[in-house]
Amino acid sequence: MVVFKVSRVQTSPFDGQKPGTSGLRKKVKVFVQPNYLHNFVQATFNALTAEKVRGATLVVSGDGRYFSKDAIQIITKMAAANGVRRVWVGQNGLLSTPAVSCVIRERVGPDGSKATGAFILTASHNPGGPHEDFGIKYNMENGGPAPEGITDKIYKNTTTITEYLIAEDLPDVDISALGVTNFTGPEGPFDVEVFDSATDYVKLMKSIFDFESIRKLLTSPKFSFCYDALHGVAGAYAKRIFVDELGAQENSLLNCVPKEDFGGGHPDPNLTYAKELVARMGLGNSETQGEPPEFGAAADGDADRNMILGKRFFVTPSDSVAIIAANAVEAIPYFSAGLKGVARSMPTSAALDVAAKHLNLKFFEVPTGWKFFGNLMDAGLCSICGEESFGTGSDHIREKDGIWAVLAWLSILAYKNKDKLQDKLVTVEDIVRNHWATYGRHYYTRYDYENVDAGAAKELMAYLVKLQSSLPEVNKIVKGVRSDVSNVVNADEFEYKDPVDGSISSHQGIRYLFEDGSRLIFRLSGTGSEGATIRLYIEQYEKDPSKTGRLSHEALAPLVDVALKLSKMQEYTGRSAPTVIT
Ligand code: G6P
Ligand code: ZN
Repeated sequence: MVVFKVSRVQTSPFDGQKPGTSGLRKKVKVFVQPNYLHNFVQATFNALTAEKVRGATLVVSGDGRYFSKDAIQIITKMAAANGVRRVWVGQNGLLSTPAVSCVIRERVGPDGSKATGAFILTASHNPGGPHEDFGIKYNMENGGPAPEGITDKIYKNTTTITEYLIAEDLPDVDISALGVTNFTGPEGPFDVEVFDSATDYVKLMKSIFDFESIRKLLTSPKFSFCYDALHGVAGAYAKRIFVDELGAQENSLLNCVPKEDFGGGHPDPNLTYAKELVARMGLGNSETQGEPPEFGAAADGDADRNMILGKRFFVTPSDSVAIIAANAVEAIPYFSAGLKGVARSMPTSAALDVAAKHLNLKFFEVPTGWKFFGNLMDAGLCSICGEESFGTGSDHIREKDGIWAVLAWLSILAYKNKDKLQDKLVTVEDIVRNHWATYGRHYYTRYDYENVDAGAAKELMAYLVKLQSSLPEVNKIVKGVRSDVSNVVNADEFEYKDPVDGSISSHQGIRYLFEDGSRLIFRLSGTGSEGATIRLYIEQYEKDPSKTGRLSHEALAPLVDVALKLSKMQEYTGRSAPTVIT
C-alpha cells in the first residue's frame, strides 16, 4: 500500500477568486497558473474548517470539460493532505450537477459511508476547451451550493492565503476504471473510489416518476422524441434513461457523447445555441428534413438546465415551471400527496404566481440563484421551483435538474394521453395553449448583451436606479416612446428577506412595474467570465383568452421599445442589438 507524505507549499493570493452566482469561473489559462486552483481549494477547506474536513467523504467530479482530469488529481492530492478520509469520483470524472446533489444525499459507499460535500467542476453553460472556461464550486451536505456565509469566507481566505497542503507523492488515480484504491497517510487510511456516474441518479428518477407510463408514451408509434445534450455530461445519463430504461430510439439522441470542448459549441440550451435541435424541431429559419418530432429537449454542459420544445413550438422556462406545478400532483407519483409550495426567481414571469393562486399553494419569489430555493426546501416550504434561465427542479435534490424536467414533461404528456394514445395525440403545444386559456398568458422575452464593457454596464445600471427616484419623469419617457404602454406605478431594486434564516439580499435587480402587471427588469449576470452581461427581462400579462395566441415578439414590441429607450441601451453599450434573445 502506498504511504504518502504531506507537503506544505508556500503560496500567495491571486486577485479575483470571488465565487459568483455559481462558483468560481474563469478562463482555463487563468486556472492553469501554478497554485491558482490550489489556492481556491485550500481556501475552501479552511472555510469549512479543519475539523469538518478531517475524516470527510468528498465527491469530486463535473461536466468533463477541459482541465477537469488534471483538477481531479490535484484536488484528490490536496484532500488527502488535508485529512479527508475518502474521495468519490464519477467514472472518467463525469457527474452532472444534479447527479452530484443526488450522490451527496443518497449514495451509501461500500463501507456504509455518506458524502459530506462536493467539489463540482463545471462552468455550466459556458463553452469549454483550452481557450474557454473552467469552473469549480463547493456543495454542502444537503446537496446544495455553499451558502453566501461560506463563499464569503472562501473569498476572504483567498486574499490572505500563504500556504496549502498537498500529498505530492500520491500517484494519480486511474479515473476511467471502477473500483477503490487505498492509500495511507500520516493520519491513517485514505481511499479513492471511482463509481458509475449514472446508477444513483437513475435509481432516484425511478423513485420519482412512473417509468412504465413514460415508456408506453415513448414507444408509441404516435410519439416521437429527440434529446440534445450539446456534448455535455447529460449524454452520460441520456442513453441509460431514455434509451435503456424508457425505450426511446437510439437515434433520438443528439450530441450525447460528452466532449472536453463540447464539440466547439456553446452548451447552453436556448433557441440560439441549441441549433441542431431547433432545426430538427422545425423552429427557426433553418430548413427541416422531414416531419419534426413531437417532443424535443436540450441540456447545458453540466445538465442542470433544460429547454423544452414541442413540434415547431417553444415552451418558455417560465411557462414550463408553471405547467409542471399545475399538473404535478396528477401526473408525477412523487407529488401525489400534494405540493408543499412553489417558488420562482424574481425575473421569471409571474405565470407560476397565477397557477399557485388558483391551486392555493404557498408561493415564494427569490433572487436569481438556485441556493435561495434550497433554504425553502430544507424548511419543507417548497416542492417545485424554476427560473427563466432554463432551470427547473424540485426538492428531490438541491440543484436544478435538466433530465428531471424532461421526465416531468414526459409524465404530463403520458398522463394527458393515457388511454388515448390510439386517437389524436395531446401535444406539447396543446398543453401550453390550454394552460394559457385557463390561467392567462405571460408574454415573455429576455435580451442578453454579452461581454459589454464592465464600466459601461455599471453606468447603465446606475442611471436606471437614479431614474427610479422620479416616477413622473419615468412616465414622461415611457409615454414619449409609446403612448399605448401603461404607466409605471412602482420602480425599485429587488430585495429579499429569506423567510427561513432572515438574511437579507439587496440589489438583486432593477424593476419597473407597470399598472397592467407588465414588468421590465434589468440585471447584471453573475455567471459570466469576461466583461459584463446585461440582462433585460420583458413581461406582459394577457388574461383575455382571445388574445393569448399572438406571436410573442409582436405582443411585446411596444414594451421592448420602451425598455431600450428608457435604459439608453445603445448609448451606454454601443450595441444596436442583443447578443442573444430568448
Ligand atoms: C446559474 C444558477 C441559476 C441562475 C443563473 C443566473 O445557472 O444556478 O440559479 O439563475 O446562474 O445566471 P446569471 O448569468 O443571470 O447570473
Ligand atoms: Zn448548468
